Amino acid sequence: TMRPSNRGAQIPSFKVMDVMRQAQAKEIALKEAGSSTKVLHLEVGQPSTGAPQKVKDAAAAAVSSDKLGYTGALGTPELRSKVALEYTKRYGVQVEPDEVLMTTGSSGAFIVAFTALFDAGSRVAMAIPGYPCYRNILQALGCEIVALPATAESNWQPTVAMLDEAAKGGRIDGLIVASPSNPTGTVILGPQMQELCDWCTRNGVFFVSDEIYHGLTLGNKPVTSLSYKRDSIVINSFSKYHCMTGWRVGWMVVKDKSLHPAMEALLQNFFISVPTLAQLAAVTALDCEEELDGHVARYRNNLRVLLEGLPAAGFDRLSRPDGAFYLYCEVSSLLSLTKAPDSLALCSIILRDCAVAITSGLDFDPVRGGRFARFSFAGSTADMEDACQRLQRWYSKLAKPPSKL
Ligand SMILES: Cc1ncc(COP(=O)(O)O)c(C=O)c1O
Repeated sequence: TMRPSNRGAQIPSFKVMDVMRQAQAKEIALKEAGSSTKVLHLEVGQPSTGAPQKVKDAAAAAVSSDKLGYTGALGTPELRSKVALEYTKRYGVQVEPDEVLMTTGSSGAFIVAFTALFDAGSRVAMAIPGYPCYRNILQALGCEIVALPATAESNWQPTVAMLDEAAKGGRIDGLIVASPSNPTGTVILGPQMQELCDWCTRNGVFFVSDEIYHGLTLGNKPVTSLSYKRDSIVINSFSKYHCMTGWRVGWMVVKDKSLHPAMEALLQNFFISVPTLAQLAAVTALDCEEELDGHVARYRNNLRVLLEGLPAAGFDRLSRPDGAFYLYCEVSSLLSLTKAPDSLALCSIILRDCAVAITSGLDFDPVRGGRFARFSFAGSTADMEDACQRLQRWYSKLAKPPSKL
């Protein structure tokens, strides 16, 4: 038999996808047993609503009117101009259309940016817990991950003190930040963004800012790193705020033109072009604020429901999200009550007993994540209410074992 490369074989799975598979199996099992209980999906990081109507209409029109060939590797001029304009509108930052590089989701942007910026052996820092694909893509590229152990005290974000400490172990080549963060929803406020950017400028370190959850504002509004560091690399996507996960359109803002030739060559070779149909439709997504802000109002309401309901189900140590649609939760007391060895086991128990799917923290933090779990509240408010009720019923049985007569 043939074996995959060591590089391929060593990449951890994206565990949330495994949870999704388990949840689907549970769904089938419930149906086969004739149960009307539905699995509540609080594991997936995607809006339960689809793309705005205008986007769907534009896609339908493009299917019949456009031949849908390849576009240029950097994206269509219309879309690049429209995205550039967003930066003036949202943040008062001037971005030129030729500084916007369209990508196949932000995932495509990570692959291209990391390949263009880092060599095998480069040391790249990021807060842990954090989005697992940064680590896994960098590992596939032979880079070294420098974990900045974030805590509730640091609002789950990196600090300059963590960077100074990490730099004692060797030169840092890059810093990746996500604000709002996945899995905690916390944001980096202006003064802290300034400090992190200045540290990178002082030390000649690439600064990559994942701004995919911008627009999904629940509390403090996130800032763009472009306001603090002109040559930072911003990555964003239509997946989350615009509810277009499966359309696979994202972008990078790269003001430092000296990086463009490498990035363009990589985009050409890796992807040829971003899906044309999705690019044509995405132009209209930037005119749908009213519809999309309606979803954000729903997430805000969902957060309120969970913050009120979860503590009564034993989930009482929760992150304080300012954005995105995630809550990160310390579950040690539930581990003792259920005798589950870690949060992966706890999540399986909760799926089995409550038909509520949530994600183990091990996806986001391979070291401490066994004591944490993540709730995604991108679904309907009715599902959040139902999930709280099911979890509370489950918890009340756990906390009070049936007395023996
Ligand atoms: C922080 C973060 N960045 C990037 C992505 C990937 O998004 P996409 O490739 O759909 O743009 C996700 C998806 O969950 C995410 O949570």
